[in-house]
Amino acid sequence: MTTPSAAFRASAHLLTRLSHKFRLIEQAVPLPHSGVTYEIFQPATFDRLLTAAAQDPEQQLPYWATIWPSGIALGDAVLQQHRQFAGQRVLELGSGLGVTAAAALAAGAQLYVTDYSPETLLLCQLNTLRNVGLQPQTLRINWRQPSQALLALATPRFPIILAADVLYEKRDVQPLLALVDQLLAPDGVLWLAEPGRPPALHFVETAVSSGWRDSPTQHAGPWPDPQDEDVIVNVHRLRR
Ligand SMILES: C[S@@+](CC[C@H](N)C(=O)[O-])C[C@H]1O[C@@H](n2cnc3c(N)ncnc32)[C@H](O)[C@@H]1O
Repeated sequence: MTTPSAAFRASAHLLTRLSHKFRLIEQAVPLPHSGVTYEIFQPATFDRLLTAAAQDPEQQLPYWATIWPSGIALGDAVLQQHRQFAGQRVLELGSGLGVTAAAALAAGAQLYVTDYSPETLLLCQLNTLRNVGLQPQTLRINWRQPSQALLALATPRFPIILAADVLYEKRDVQPLLALVDQLLAPDGVLWLAEPGRPPALHFVETAVSSGWRDSPTQHAGPWPDPQDEDVIVNVHRLRR
């Protein structure tokens, strides 16, 4: 149990640590359906992140540094069905800045978040501590090469996996299908939020054609960035 003063100390420590890496700005992120607003820290500029990405062996661009409609929609869906999360072991793949993670912790989940970027795991902890006074356990992963540590975390397998806007590259469809199959309990549910990118549609079609059942809902915003005005996010609940 994190006390308010321990949460404050931990977030102050993370803020100092992250401020040495990059200048941070804080943005208000309303979750349109539940009426909650989170204050989310993110890097102020992308220049240094793009320079670092150029050296990355996997050529990973710093998409983690942006607030995406899918993460907001998934957070909203979690809060709307919070009873399903209370007390559950939940894994999030590609957590980014932590909007969905804050909602899952607020709903009472025992949350493990994973991402390729170590910086975003720290930001996720900072943002959840600041907004809900709780932090998830974190693990750096590359879902294309699942580590023993990730497989060990999934013993027992997770009843719920969350993933928001993680399917934007064709090369990730098969690794993520295989990984979810490995990490999710037989009667578990994958909550996948996606804004209609072709790899995500391919993922859902492949899962459904191999026997998974889907019950999607649509989320239309409004989103913080006016450029996302027309984005519709599908939140799929996929079970075998
Ligand atoms: C578009 S962002 C979405 C972030 C967050 N879920 C949201 O909706 O705001 C995709 C996330 O997936 C992570 N990611 C991309 N490729 C990955 C990989 N191979 N292994 C683990 N995480 C990865 C990125 O670092 C980033 O945080």
